[in-house]
Amino acid sequence: MEKIDLSFEHFNLPEKVNLLIQHCNEAGDEFCSHSEEDGGIPEFVAADGRISWQLLNSVVKQTLPDRTPVFCEWGSGTGLVTLIASFMGMSATGIEIEEDLIDLARETSREYAIPATFIHGSIYPKDNPTPLINYQQVDLFFAYPWPNQITHMSNLFKRVAVEGAILVVYHGGHNYRVLRR
Ligand SMILES: C[S@@+](CC[C@H](N)C(=O)[O-])C[C@H]1O[C@@H](n2cnc3c(N)ncnc32)[C@H](O)[C@@H]1O
Repeated sequence: MEKIDLSFEHFNLPEKVNLLIQHCNEAGDEFCSHSEEDGGIPEFVAADGRISWQLLNSVVKQTLPDRTPVFCEWGSGTGLVTLIASFMGMSATGIEIEEDLIDLARETSREYAIPATFIHGSIYPKDNPTPLINYQQVDLFFAYPWPNQITHMSNLFKRVAVEGAILVVYHGGHNYRVLRR
């Protein structure tokens, strides 16, 4: 695997994406405000929407300039990053283990008329031996893993991604790693 030195570029934020970010932030806060018994996910942490917009645009421009990539997010949370990828024109799928978050992401997709696919389940082969989507077709993966999942996700990428595919591992704020298979 090759580590890519990305130049973080600035892209204007469309108003629809700005509204989408606010919507998903509020929905994420709402989840955190409920206890687990109440259907909430108190420890849920979401990627920064504005940084994700710049990051995805920079990655596509610099690493996959010759095509409209097929996108997959591992652990899609509120759906924000997958919806941003779809808004950019990519065929985009989010996979998420928490069913309530999948419901929320599908609702947002409908409300904003942004056509992304959200699949409920675990990304790990130990939980789902048959992959939930065909990874052979995916050009660009995105994940914001819990710290204890970083190695598992890199290993999964090594195992399932095709040569040339890109993995963006986001670590909060302006911290991220871009890898090419
Ligand atoms: C740090 S949050 C990031 C959410 C989203 N990617 C974002 O950037 O806003 C990690 C997400 O991964 C999900 N997750 C954890 N383990 C998972 C698994 N085995 N399969 C699918 N999703 C998982 C969590 O429920 C959570 O929504």
